[in-house]
Amino acid sequence: MQIAVSKHAVFAIVFSLLSISTFSPSFAEQIFYPWKIENYAIKKPLGGFTGDAQRGRKIAINQDKGNCLACHSLPIPEESFHGTVGPPLQGIASRLNKGQIRLRVADEQKINPFTIMPGFYKNPKENNRVADDFWGKPVLTAQETEDVITYLMTLK
Ligand code: HEC
Repeated sequence: MQIAVSKHAVFAIVFSLLSISTFSPSFAEQIFYPWKIENYAIKKPLGGFTGDAQRGRKIAINQDKGNCLACHSLPIPEESFHGTVGPPLQGIASRLNKGQIRLRVADEQKINPFTIMPGFYKNPKENNRVADDFWGKPVLTAQETEDVITYLMTLK
């Protein structure tokens, strides 16, 4: 049996598949890039992304993203509310190296299983009781998590 498929149809299918994988940001956000712990740290950048400190600072403030200020104080004077549930993050880069900070931001539970700090780049397969919007994906994307980590690295 032969199925006649026009060249145009093939082109349309190939093009739409390509554009889903290449251009759609929502598709990219779904991807979880696995990481591994070595010596209480994640040494390699998540997904191989390079972070941007300015963007990371905004994500740390943004209540729909990092919302770090809900629990931590940070050197962000324009915001009036700073939480006290977690330790202050001023000077964090003098206490921890980048790989150690990456593990704590990605999944603090690997350090303290009872912590209330959300794992911002936790393996979605290890999540339970998550809000519908977060099913199957990390809270932040790999890029956003690297941005936050790069921002924390400026806090010496
Ligand atoms: C719901 C509260 C909460 C939120 C939100 C939160 N944290 Fe935390 N965080 C904590 C607590 C509590 C600890 C202390 C660790 C523990 O519980 O054992 C902690 C620890 C840390 C540490 C390790 C500090 C140290 O001195 O060892 C880092 C780094 C950190 N948080 C970064 C962040 C960043 C960046 C964000 C936002 C993207 C964030 N946290 C959001 C509660 C929170």
